[in-house]
Amino acid sequence: MKVLVIGGAGYIGSHVVKEMMKAGHQVTVFDNLSSGLRENIFPENEFIYGNILIPNDLDEAFARGFDGFVHLAAFKAVGESMEHPEKYSVNNITGTLNIMNAAVKHNCLRMIFSSSAAIFGMPAYLPIDEDHPKNPMNYYGFTKLEIEEFMEWYDRIKNMRFAALRYFNAAGYDPDGQIKGLERNPQNLLPRVMETAVGMRKQLCVFGTDYETRDGTCIRDYIHVTDLARAHVMALDYIAKNDVSVKLNLGTEKGTTVKELIEAARRITGKPIPAKDDARRAGDPASLYATSKKAKELLGWEPQFSDVDTLVSTTWNVYKGLDKS
Ligand code: WQD
Repeated sequence: MKVLVIGGAGYIGSHVVKEMMKAGHQVTVFDNLSSGLRENIFPENEFIYGNILIPNDLDEAFARGFDGFVHLAAFKAVGESMEHPEKYSVNNITGTLNIMNAAVKHNCLRMIFSSSAAIFGMPAYLPIDEDHPKNPMNYYGFTKLEIEEFMEWYDRIKNMRFAALRYFNAAGYDPDGQIKGLERNPQNLLPRVMETAVGMRKQLCVFGTDYETRDGTCIRDYIHVTDLARAHVMALDYIAKNDVSVKLNLGTEKGTTVKELIEAARRITGKPIPAKDDARRAGDPASLYATSKKAKELLGWEPQFSDVDTLVSTTWNVYKGLDKS
């Protein structure tokens, strides 16, 4: 299929592009390089430098004719979304509606959307399945949930079929070592662990050590970005073959604590990675992990690279070049 990947120069986007190409799809990347990186664009891909807030950019892109598209062009900093919701309204909501309207205009009626575990809010039970109540605790999560609803309406009215893929904690890097672009100013745990390993940070702050978990630190469901990317390819095939829309949670059902991740990183990198116990971060649930039974049943998807050692070692492969010690 001819596939447009919007946000294809980003961290997850570049991995999606790679897996799409491996599956034989012809991929065009659309990105404004605000957080995406030129070095993440493969030479074999057509690249459109465009902005989702400029409807004409999208109109011209979709006019090239695509069988489906992947939308990953969103802001994703939870804390920032609570300080500056306007940014998230404009980029995530208005930007997505611009994309969907351009797609409909040009009859591109298959949409794969990067949704998030953030739509669920505080877990009412674990593991989180697709039917779990949706009560986002931050504005970022709210934007993702709204977009899922827009897609449902466009499905009903315009026959736009979609897959909403709710990522849990995306982590890791291309196991082949081809994708190496580092996110600027990363907020997430594993990149910060790596920044500490190479000396870019003096120490890692562990946010909360008195949770009701096996070692007192939060449990999360870390899922390898290549596993996420594979799910996009499988979801596109699935909605195309079956002419249906789906909403799927993508996780491993295996939770890892903050301390376990740090320990694995110390072992794999051989670096001391100083860490200090710090206060809880507002809004962090003690444990969060998903069941991906539905993704397995419908798509035949199972994580292949999401064990802790592969998550850490593939990330270290990218960061170790920065090591000054
Ligand atoms: C993981 C754990 C922190 C940094 C976020 C979004 C979620 C989804 C994934 C996009 C937590 C702890 C972190 C640090 C720490 N995003 N931590 N020290 O918050 O689980 O999920 O990213 O859709 O919606 O909320 O991920 O990587 O920020 O944190 O101790 O310096 O690591 O408290 O327990 P989170 P994270």
